[in-house]
Amino acid sequence: MTDLIIIFVCCLVTIQARKNVLFLVSDDMRPQLGAYEGGDFPSPVHPRAYSPNLDALAKRSLLLKKAYVQQALCNPSRSSLLTGRRPDTTHVYDLTHYFRKVGGNFTTLPQYFKNNGYMTVGMGKIFHPGKEASDYDDPISWSVPYYQAKLKGGHYFSKNHSWVAVPKAEYEKYPLPDDILADHAIKVLREVAPAAKSGEQPFFVGLGFLKPHLPFVFREEFLNLYPMENISLPDNPYAPVKMPEVAWFDFSNLRTFGDIQRLNASGAINTTFPDDVVKQLRRAYYSAISYVDSLVGQVIQELDNLGLANNTIISFWGDHGWELGEHGEWCKQTNFENAVHAPMMIHIPGETDDGIVTEQLTEFVDLFPTLVEAAGLTPLPPCPENSTGILTCREGQSLMPLVSNPDFELKKAAFSQFPRSQNGTDIMGYTLRTEQYRYTEWPAFNGPPTYTPDWTNLYGAELYNHTQDPEENYNRAYDSGYSPIRAVFSSILRKGWRFSQKP
Ligand SMILES: *[C@@H]1O[C@H](CO)[C@@H](O)[C@H](O)[C@H]1NC(C)=O
Ligand SMILES: *[C@@H]1O[C@H](CO)[C@@H](O)[C@H](O)[C@H]1NC(C)=O
Ligand SMILES: *[C@@H]1O[C@H](CO)[C@@H](O)[C@H](O)[C@H]1NC(C)=O
Ligand SMILES: *[C@@H]1O[C@H](CO)[C@@H](O)[C@H](O)[C@H]1NC(C)=O
Ligand SMILES: *[C@@H]1O[C@H](CO)[C@@H](O)[C@H](O)[C@H]1NC(C)=O
Ligand SMILES: *[C@@H]1O[C@H](CO)[C@@H](O)[C@H](O)[C@H]1NC(C)=O
Ligand SMILES: *[C@@H]1O[C@H](CO)[C@@H](O)[C@H](O)[C@H]1NC(C)=O
Ligand SMILES: *[C@@H]1O[C@H](CO)[C@@H](O)[C@H](O)[C@H]1NC(C)=O
Ligand SMILES: *[C@@H]1O[C@H](CO)[C@@H](O)[C@H](O)[C@H]1NC(C)=O
Repeated sequence: MTDLIIIFVCCLVTIQARKNVLFLVSDDMRPQLGAYEGGDFPSPVHPRAYSPNLDALAKRSLLLKKAYVQQALCNPSRSSLLTGRRPDTTHVYDLTHYFRKVGGNFTTLPQYFKNNGYMTVGMGKIFHPGKEASDYDDPISWSVPYYQAKLKGGHYFSKNHSWVAVPKAEYEKYPLPDDILADHAIKVLREVAPAAKSGEQPFFVGLGFLKPHLPFVFREEFLNLYPMENISLPDNPYAPVKMPEVAWFDFSNLRTFGDIQRLNASGAINTTFPDDVVKQLRRAYYSAISYVDSLVGQVIQELDNLGLANNTIISFWGDHGWELGEHGEWCKQTNFENAVHAPMMIHIPGETDDGIVTEQLTEFVDLFPTLVEAAGLTPLPPCPENSTGILTCREGQSLMPLVSNPDFELKKAAFSQFPRSQNGTDIMGYTLRTEQYRYTEWPAFNGPPTYTPDWTNLYGAELYNHTQDPEENYNRAYDSGYSPIRAVFSSILRKGWRFSQKP
C-alpha cells in the first residue's frame, strides 16, 4: 500500500513537471520596447515606447538585450531559428525556398515538441507562409491543421498605403487579422488547457502576429500614444562614411506602396523622404508595435485566467530589426545593427520570475536548444560540419547558463549574413558583432551545390567601433589605425561561428 502511494506521488509530480510552451512571434519588430531602453538602444531621438505588456513579460523573463538574427529577412531568419541551423545550412536566403527542399529534412522546434508528446498548434505567421517557402506552414510540425486568419481583403493586404490607422467603426465591422489571431489563440488555449492541467498532454501553442510589418496597419487609438510633435527625425539620415555600395538596400518594398510611390524616391544612397513622411512612418511603426503589444497582453492574460501561468514557458521574438530612416535606410535587408538586432525574451516559470537581464551576445539559433532544455526534453546534439542528412541537431547553444549567470560569456561573436546580387554576381555579406565592434565582409558567393564564400574576391568591408559610434556612422575598415584589429576580425569571420562558441 505504502509503495503504491509513493509510486503514485512520484508519477504525478513527473507528469506535472512537463511545462507547456506559448511561442509568440512578431513580424519585423525591432527592439523598440520599453524593456530595451537604456544603453545605446533605442537612440534618444525616439519617444518612449508604449509596450506595457511586453515590458511586464520582460520583467519575469530572461531578457536577451543583445540577440542577433542570422539573416535580416523573414524566411531565412525564421527557417534558421525554427530549425536551429544557420542560413548556410538551411540554404534559405530568400522568400521562395523551403529548407526541406534545399537544406535537409530537418526536425523543427515545434516538430521536436510534437515528437515528444506535445500537442503542437500553430497560427498566423511562424514559418514564412505559402507553398514555396514552407509548403503552407510546414504541416509536419503541427498536431492539428494550421490556422491562418482568412480575411484576404482590407488594408493588411493592400499596397495602397504604407500605413493605416483603422477607425473603430471599421475594425469592429471588419476585424484586423492580428485581432482574429489573438482571439483564436485564446480559444485554442481554452481547448488545450484541461489536458495540460491534468498532466495528460502538454501543449506548444505558436502564435505569429503579422505586424508591425508593412503596411503599418493598427487600431486607430494607438496613434494617440505618439503625438506628432513628439516624433523626431533620425539624427543620422545619411549612409556611413566610406560605406561600400554593396552594403546598401534601396528599400524597394516600401517604395511600392501607393503613397510612397508618388514621392518618386529612388532609394539611392543619401537620398531620403520629405521630413513629414519620415515622421509619419516612424509614428505609424511605433503605433503598430503598441498595437501588437496589446494583443500579446490579451493572450498572456488568458494563461493566467486558465491557471496555466505557473507551468507555461513563454518565448517572444521579432524576426529581425528594421531601419526607420537611420542611415536614410528603410526596411531590413542589410547587415547593419538596426537590421540584425531583434527582441527576444524567455519566461520560464520558477526560473526567471524575478527577471534576468543579459547583455551577453546571443543568437536566434540559440532559442531551439534553450526551449528544449527549459522544458526538460532530451538536449539536441551539436550539428557536425555537414548536417544535411542529420534530422535533429543544433548550430546554436542553450541559453540556460545565462539564467544562473547573466554575465556568462556564451560566445565571442554573433554571426549574421545577407546576400546581394550585382551585375549578375552573387555576393554574401558576412557580419559579426563582438561586444564593441561590428565587422562585415562582402565576398563573392558560390551558390548551389557548395554554398560557399570566395574570400579572395571581396566587394567591400565594414568596421564599426560601437564604443564611439553606436549608430554605425563611420566605416573604419579602411582606416590605417584600425588595420590590426581588422585583421583579427577578418580571421574570426572567415573561421566562422564554430570557432566563436563552445560546442
Ligand atoms: C521527413 O522526415 C519526416 C520525419 O521527421 C518523415 O516523416 C518524412 O517522410 C520525411 N520526408 C522526406 C521527404 O524524407
Ligand atoms: C486600393 O485602391 C484601389 C484603387 O483605387 C481601390 O479599388 C481599393 O479599394 C483600395 N483598397 C483599399 C484596401 O483601400
Ligand atoms: C511628448 O513629449 C513631451 C515633452 O517631452 C512629454 O512631456 C510627453 O510626455 C510626451 N508625450 C507622450 C505621450 O509621450
Ligand atoms: C553619404 O553621406 C555621408 C555623410 O555626408 C558621406 O560621408 C558619404 O560619403 C555619402 N555617401 C555616398 C555614397 O554618397
Ligand atoms: C513624380 O513623377 C510624376 C511623373 O513624372 C510627376 O507627375 C510627379 O509630380 C512627381 N512627384 C513628385 C513628388 O516629384
Ligand atoms: C500552479 O498553480 C496551481 C493553482 O494555483 C497549483 O495547484 C499548482 O501546484 C501550481 N503548479 C506549479 C508547478 O507551481
Ligand atoms: C553532405 O552530406 C550529404 C549526405 O548526408 C551528402 O550527400 C553531401 O554530398 C555532403 N556534402 C558535402 C559538401 O560533403
Ligand atoms: C557592378 O557594376 C558597378 C558599376 O559598373 C560596379 O561599380 C560594381 O563594382 C559592379 N559589381 C560587381 C559585383 O561586379
Ligand atoms: C574604439 O573607440 C574607443 C572609444 O573611443 C577607443 O578607445 C578605441 O581605441 C577605438 N578602437 C580602435 C581600434 O581605435
